[in-house]
Formats: sequence, C-alpha cells, structure tokens
Amino acid sequence: MVDLTEHSDPRGKLTVVEPGKEVDFEIRRAYYIHHVPAGAERGAHGHRRLRQLIVAVHGSFEVVVDDGYASARFVLDDPSRGLYVGPMVWRDMVAFAPGTVGLWLVSEPYDESEYYRDYDEYLRDARAIA
Ligand code: TYD
Repeated sequence: MVDLTEHSDPRGKLTVVEPGKEVDFEIRRAYYIHHVPAGAERGAHGHRRLRQLIVAVHGSFEVVVDDGYASARFVLDDPSRGLYVGPMVWRDMVAFAPGTVGLWLVSEPYDESEYYRDYDEYLRDARAIA
C-alpha cells in the first residue's frame, strides 16, 4: 500500500500521484471503473510487464493478489492510499461497494497480448521465473 500525498484545507482534499514520488514508473495510461453491479467481480488476469497503482477514489473494493505461491487480500477504501501491483501478479477485484469508482494508473499502453487471461498459463510462467 502506498501513502499518497494529500493537501487538505478548508476547501477539501487534493491527492497527488506523481512519477518519481508516489510511484516509480512513468504513467502512460489511466482508466477508471465505475457502475459495477452488486456482486460483479473483475480482474482475473495478470500482466507480463505492466506496473500499476490502484486507488479507490470513491467507495471501496478488494483486490486479491496472487504471485503463484501465495495470495493476499487488500481492502481499498481510502482515496489517499493506493495499491501498487507489479508484473507477474494475478489479481481479482471483488466486493465493490455501490457507487465505487476505482482509478488505475498504469505503466503501459493497452496491449492485450501483454495480459495473462488463463490462470494455468500464468502459473506456469510465474513459477518458471521465481
Ligand atoms: P478488462 O481487462 O476485462 O477489465 P478488468 O481488468 O476491470 O476486469 O477490460 C474490459 C474491456 O475493456 C476489455 O474489452 C478490454 C477493454 N480495455 C481497453 O480497451 N483499454 C484499456 O485500457 C483497458 C484497461 C481495457
């Protein structure tokens, strides 16, 4: 989990993510997820190269990460904290609260060939490099 830089004053809060400060990769793409129906689960993939910071800018959800050997569950419910996820990590996003907006800041342009969508293929490669 990464603590983001927050500027708070009587007008509210402003949170910053800047390469070289809160993240150590160049941000080359951003996307956000919203209007997630109750019970829907997302993710179910891994990346060969991509690095990312995930922030629940509103609401909450959970990210389950798996490196091929062990898994861990992170609750994202604070817009001033993000979850860094590196390459070769399988992830699932679950338990979206109604109205949640999740922001992804990522290191690569969209490239479907860079994804693992098949868990067995991911597991084979993740264990081969470990
Ligand atoms: P998907 O990877 O299934 O989303 P999630 O990781 O939240 O489960 O992506 C949903 C769709 O959006 C899929 O058709 C691919 C497309 N997409 C893009 O075209 N560009 C992007 O930058 C991203 C992240 C997804």
